[in-house]
Amino acid sequence: MTIPFRGPAGQETTPYLLTPGPLTTTPAVKEAMLRDWGSWDADLRAVVGSIRSDLLDIADASQGFECVLLQGSGSYGVEAALGSFAPKNKKTLMLTNGAYGERAIKAMSYMNRDFISYETDELEAPSADEVAALLKANPDVGAVFLVQCETTSGIVNPVEDIAAVAQKAGCVVILDAMSSFGAMDLSMKRMGIDVLISSANKCIEGVPGFTYILARRDLLEASQGVSHSLSLDLYEQWAYMQKSGQFRYRPPTHILVAFAQALEQHKAEGGAPGRLARYKKTAKAMRDGMRRIGLSPLLGDNETGPIIQTFATPRDPNFDFTRFYEGLKQRGFIIYPGKLTKKPSFRVGNMGALDHDVMAMLVDATEATLKAMNVKDLTPAE
Ligand SMILES: Cc1ncc(COP(=O)(O)O)c(C=O)c1O
Repeated sequence: MTIPFRGPAGQETTPYLLTPGPLTTTPAVKEAMLRDWGSWDADLRAVVGSIRSDLLDIADASQGFECVLLQGSGSYGVEAALGSFAPKNKKTLMLTNGAYGERAIKAMSYMNRDFISYETDELEAPSADEVAALLKANPDVGAVFLVQCETTSGIVNPVEDIAAVAQKAGCVVILDAMSSFGAMDLSMKRMGIDVLISSANKCIEGVPGFTYILARRDLLEASQGVSHSLSLDLYEQWAYMQKSGQFRYRPPTHILVAFAQALEQHKAEGGAPGRLARYKKTAKAMRDGMRRIGLSPLLGDNETGPIIQTFATPRDPNFDFTRFYEGLKQRGFIIYPGKLTKKPSFRVGNMGALDHDVMAMLVDATEATLKAMNVKDLTPAE
């Protein structure tokens, strides 16, 4: 893919957003938002319809699955999905190894749904064997929730193995694929995923403002009256969308047309495999370059995904994250603070309309920023 707006840091096309989202988008995605749209208009309804069917195609879920679009960020989608599909008369097994698993658990507590949790360290993936043992010991569990790429660290969890044991135990599998859908290998049919949640501004590279939930049609049909919330009720949102082709309440019009443009670009790049290939290239360029200047990624090359990279904060007393952030920002790059609870770290994202040359520029900018801060000891802080 050619990134048409690539240019030296400092030009109007920057900053490059190297974060878990929002992300850098192409000019075509931004330009798609320059027109106003009526919500009842047939043109907009056609956009909504094509987005829904494209998302099902990407998920390999065209038969027997439905796609529901919902206003709000990804967290709204997770809460809506749990509200509609976490059983009321059974428990849900909640897997967590980071902030997004924790947030989903919090949502379960807010809506008073019964759950048990399986927590692993932020830098450690959950084990399918452990999930199997937990499901055996707790026959009252009816659903399993997990995150594919835990954006807290960038770790990729073994979805296929865990979904297989969950399915064997007769559980519904609910997957937060927020920061992986559209790039990482994901087939709902093959992997046995019953419900999947993602959002507009992750690997599809749209702008933030809506979330989407893909779910088995029979589960959706059975979810009438289950949700704890009016505006997050996926059955009602779906039923209205089926009937009218429209959102139930005010639609995020401009964001939808930008997303339709982003989907065209996704197809032109070769779908998820094409996007994954680019992200892998950018992730490698970033990790190799950062290592070359002395910084340490916290996860090994085989544990991390090509979505976001976590680096250890340097030990040097001159290092201060806010000054580092500002120095990179002046050079055209926006990064993100760390979210790990135990190790001081910062994060740099790979998602978005970026290529490996942008990564080379980032590494140069990082080296220049550290030099300007007089940071010499880059060994990890404890
Ligand atoms: C894995 C995962 N789940 C949930 C969320 C929450 O999404 P949002 O920030 O759009 O509410 C994020 C956000 O980065 C995420 O990465």
